[in-house]
Amino acid sequence: TSAAHAAADAGNPLVVAHRGASAYAPENTLAAVDKAHEMGFDWVENDVQRTSDGRLVVLHDATLARTTNVEELYPERAPWNVADFTAAEIARLDAGSWFGGDFAGARVPTLEQYMRRVSRNHQKLVLEIKNPQLYPGIEQQTLKVLANEGWLGPAHLDKLVIQSFSADTVRRVHELSPAVKTGLLGTPDIADLPEYATFSDQINSSYTTISASYVATIHALGGPHGKPLEILTWTVNDAANARRVADYGVDGIITNKPDVVRDATQG
Ligand code: G3P
Ligand code: CA
Repeated sequence: TSAAHAAADAGNPLVVAHRGASAYAPENTLAAVDKAHEMGFDWVENDVQRTSDGRLVVLHDATLARTTNVEELYPERAPWNVADFTAAEIARLDAGSWFGGDFAGARVPTLEQYMRRVSRNHQKLVLEIKNPQLYPGIEQQTLKVLANEGWLGPAHLDKLVIQSFSADTVRRVHELSPAVKTGLLGTPDIADLPEYATFSDQINSSYTTISASYVATIHALGGPHGKPLEILTWTVNDAANARRVADYGVDGIITNKPDVVRDATQG
C-alpha cells in the first residue's frame, strides 16, 4: 500500500447502512441486510429490543405500529408495544408490506436470525440497544446471544460495535465484555467526553450537531482500548452533507442511502 493510498483510506469514512439499506428495503429486516450486502456494503446498523416473553428482536420503534401490520392483526392491543407481544406473535407480523409490495411477508427478525444473516453475508454490525430503560438486563442478555452466535471471539472484535443513547448501558456493556467495542450515541458536552472515553470507543452523533472542532476534540482523546476516540455520524442521506462531515474527518457515516454516501465521499 502506497503512502498516498493509505492517506486516501484515512480520509474515507466507513459507510454504515442504517437499519440495513433502509432507503431500499424495509428497515431492520433480513431483506435490508441482504440489500446492503448486494450493494457492496459490509457494515450495517440495527436496533435491538425485547418481547414480553424475553426474546430479543430487531426493531426501531418502541411500538410495532409503524413498521408492521400489527394493528390489522391485533386491533385490540393498542399501543402495540414490542414489550407487550410474545416472540411468536411478532413472528406472525408482516414487516415488509408497509414499505412496498415486493417485500410482503418480510418478518421482524430475532437477534439470533439477524446475526446469522450478517455472518452468512460476512458483514459487520453496529448494534444499538434501544430503549434499555424498558428492558432491565438487556445488556447482559444481548452479550449472551452474541456469545452464543460466536460474535464475541477475537475474530469478531473488529466486526462489532455495541452502541446506545444510554451511557449507563454503554458502561455496562464495557464492564461485562471489556474487549467489545462500544459507542455512546448523542453529542455530549466536551467537558464530559473524557469520562465517557473511559468506557466508550466511539461518540456517535447526529450530523446536525457536529463541527470540525468537535470531531477534532474527540480524536484528541483516547478510548478504553488505547486508540483515539472515534465518531460515527447519523443519519446522512445526501451528498452535500456527506462531503461536509467527511471533511470534518468523521470515522464513519451512518446512512439509509449507502450508495449516495459512497459516491460522495470515496475515492
Ligand atoms: O445509529 C444511529 C442512529 O440509528 C440513532 O438514531 O433513532 O435511528 O436509532 P435512531
Ligand atoms: Ca439506531
